Amino acid sequence: MSRTRLLPIALLALVAVASFTAGTVTRAQAPAPGATPLSRTAWSDTARIYSEEQAVAGQAAWTKVCAECHETVDVTGADFKTKWRGQSVFALFEQIRTTMPDGNPGTLSREEYAATVAYILKLNGLPAGEKAMPTDSASLAAFTLDLPAASR
Ligand code: HEC
Repeated sequence: MSRTRLLPIALLALVAVASFTAGTVTRAQAPAPGATPLSRTAWSDTARIYSEEQAVAGQAAWTKVCAECHETVDVTGADFKTKWRGQSVFALFEQIRTTMPDGNPGTLSREEYAATVAYILKLNGLPAGEKAMPTDSASLAAFTLDLPAASR
């Protein structure tokens, strides 16, 4: 490797060391606002049922529609986890689809509801996979909400 190619790497290393010693933690992917940063090992890695792209779409829908009334802690907090852990993804999807947005339920498409559910899973630290979450009820019923135990 030539010197001109090594220089930027050396600079990067310097910056990394500098920011490390300054106490700043830089993350490749910053957690979404409100997300509880927990170590990945504390979470089930088994059900990668949504895609990153879908969660991003879900975040947009959340910001546009849901954030008017909700903070993300509403779908990540201990109450939420206790209530939904072990239930099917369909149960959550259907609850949201038939009751949200409050006063105006069913106004989003199934794709948009699935995307918001994907975003909620992401907020809860469940990892994205290759494929988008399906939107048909039978497929969704086969997935369990593998939320971690509530910690209070
Ligand atoms: C106009 C206000 C409003 C909007 C907009 C809204 N919600 Fe809600 N949401 C509420 C209220 C109020 C409750 C509590 C209802 C209850 O407990 O009966 C609630 C409850 C929920 C719950 C249940 C929480 C739990 O602990 O089980 C979920 C999930 C949820 N909303 C998701 C969403 C999503 C996703 C959207 C956007 C598509 C959304 N909400 C939009 C007002 C709203």
